[in-house]
Amino acid sequence: MAKDFDTMEDSNRSANLSIHEVSDPARRVFLRGGLGAVTTGLLAPLAGLGAAVGVATVSGCATGAGAMDTGPLLGFKSVPVATSDAVVVPEGYTAQPLAPWGDPVGLSGENAAFKWDASNTAAEQETQMGMHHDGIHFYPHPLDAKSNTMGLLVMNHEYADDGLLHTDGMKTWNAQKVRKAQAAHGVSVIEIELKNNRWEVVRPSPWARRITAYTPMEVSGPAAGHAMMRTAADANGRRVLGTLNNCGSGITPWGTYLTCEENFIFYFRGGQQLSDHHRRWGLRSGEPVGYRWAEHDARFNAELHPNEPNRFGWVVEIDPYNPSSTPIKRTSLGRAAHEGATIAVTRAKRAVVYMGEDARFEYIYKFVTRDAIKPGGAQPNAELLDHGTLYVARFDANGKGQWLPLVHGQGPLTAASGFADQGEVVIKTRQASDALGATKMDRPEWIDVDKQGWVYCTLTNNSNRGQANMPAVDAANPRANNTMGNIIRWKDTGDFDGLTFEWNHFVLAGDPANERADAKGNVKGDAFACPDGLWTDYRGVLWIQTDMSTSAMGRGDLARLGNNGMLAADVRTGEIRRFLTGPNGCEITGATSTPDGSTMFINIQHPGESPSERSNPDEPRRISNWPDANPAGRPRSATVAIRRTGGGPVGT
Ligand code: FEO
Ligand code: CA
Ligand code: CA
Repeated sequence: MAKDFDTMEDSNRSANLSIHEVSDPARRVFLRGGLGAVTTGLLAPLAGLGAAVGVATVSGCATGAGAMDTGPLLGFKSVPVATSDAVVVPEGYTAQPLAPWGDPVGLSGENAAFKWDASNTAAEQETQMGMHHDGIHFYPHPLDAKSNTMGLLVMNHEYADDGLLHTDGMKTWNAQKVRKAQAAHGVSVIEIELKNNRWEVVRPSPWARRITAYTPMEVSGPAAGHAMMRTAADANGRRVLGTLNNCGSGITPWGTYLTCEENFIFYFRGGQQLSDHHRRWGLRSGEPVGYRWAEHDARFNAELHPNEPNRFGWVVEIDPYNPSSTPIKRTSLGRAAHEGATIAVTRAKRAVVYMGEDARFEYIYKFVTRDAIKPGGAQPNAELLDHGTLYVARFDANGKGQWLPLVHGQGPLTAASGFADQGEVVIKTRQASDALGATKMDRPEWIDVDKQGWVYCTLTNNSNRGQANMPAVDAANPRANNTMGNIIRWKDTGDFDGLTFEWNHFVLAGDPANERADAKGNVKGDAFACPDGLWTDYRGVLWIQTDMSTSAMGRGDLARLGNNGMLAADVRTGEIRRFLTGPNGCEITGATSTPDGSTMFINIQHPGESPSERSNPDEPRRISNWPDANPAGRPRSATVAIRRTGGGPVGT
């Protein structure tokens, strides 16, 4: 979301690798952090269909399995900076828009077509792709896990632009508009198939699903049933309606999807008497911070329902292979403005979930499961994420760091200090991290793991760093007025569950043509700024997606960088090459691929966004009508399927 409102050689660490490979020798596909498209499908039982996809076990950590390909990782010719209203990919590649906002997802009997004047009703929107595509994952097809031409796409819809969503924008405001906006949020599951070199949405599909801002969800973990989670509508504090601001995502080795609630606070109106707790999370008195839902849905008025905001900011687990399953908010993983949730697997088969909180001066977390992952898919691992230890990162100036346990009763996390129990620790994860002295970062966004066990996190930017009354620069966040962003990386001691780590900056983003030394960065290759999305493909290429905010784009330090785009990095050499540029006003976010890498899917979010107010439907149309080239229409967030014209893995 547009948020207005030194390279090191990899050391040989084969003993610590958590890169597993599928035991089928014919399919020696590397699985980053022990997971990946292939495994997720293979391990996932088809709940509801009574069948199981081929059972492949994850082998032990094969020494050498994590060895990087020795050939060149980047085989394409970079594309130039662009300001065109198009997706531009290198010579020899195609980019096909797929499943834009408003297209039917393929529910049985429900196929209302998108209306160009945005006159679809709230009920119709419930059957259509939501707005503002974000985190995404390709799941192997339930009936053919080895297919590279059929599968399920699961993706987040981060937020709704009310200017575009309604025919007259926000000239009027009523309960039906709020309901339509809520229906445009959440998650979509669609079945897709490649036919004649074009991906199509299969309609109807038994797996098609929409999850919205009012889909019932369970709460599990230490905050389930907690007094701070109870509301008038849910006296037990265990059943929440909906998920909000679903930004980054994650996948589990047992075949489920993790959707992450980011800027949930934007939906709430604060009361006059704000608690310190709500204030710490950004609630304000009086007017809502962002959306105007509270005017017609009292649940979002925190003055009337002060515990409702506590029910958001969680990582939610969804089983895409079981369309009737109830999503579960996993509170063990802590509450935060969650960007994403990336799982790595230890040699003892514990899952380690890395999470960034995208807000200025917030934190990086990891959660280590108590138990080992069991074979057999989602069902045997249904409670795995409910038991374990949550940590927050402290980056020290000597290049080392510590994971500080967010455990009730340890250190300052006691009742006397305002943490009655573990439930309160996780509901107040920010305050607990403040108390532990964790490092306040420059907006941690996506996280991913390379084949040598380095864990990378994008720190997108922080123009407040070093300003008056704001935290000063530190070793991990070394630039004041950080307009360009960094990618930091660390390697945990021993294994992914290690309590200490070493760290360095993979790259300080920037523009070599910038005259200001601190905005030049140290990019070896093509200039970029504001890294956000991050994804390691099965070959070990680190894909970097940018989100220069619309209000900052084209000005100041970012003046020469054009539209947002996607770059590929060779983590062995540090070389970074621009692969794609997006249409006007968009950001690029989310990445996944078919198991063989022959199709990469990414999301184009908020094409047409402009710095002016977003309540006017004509405003975005001034700069973009992507992807439809329909001047009477509206720019639409959409997935893009990228392929090589001659076949073969994308990026080679
Ligand atoms: Fe939703 Fe931090 O991007
Ligand atoms: Ca993001
Ligand atoms: Ca961002």
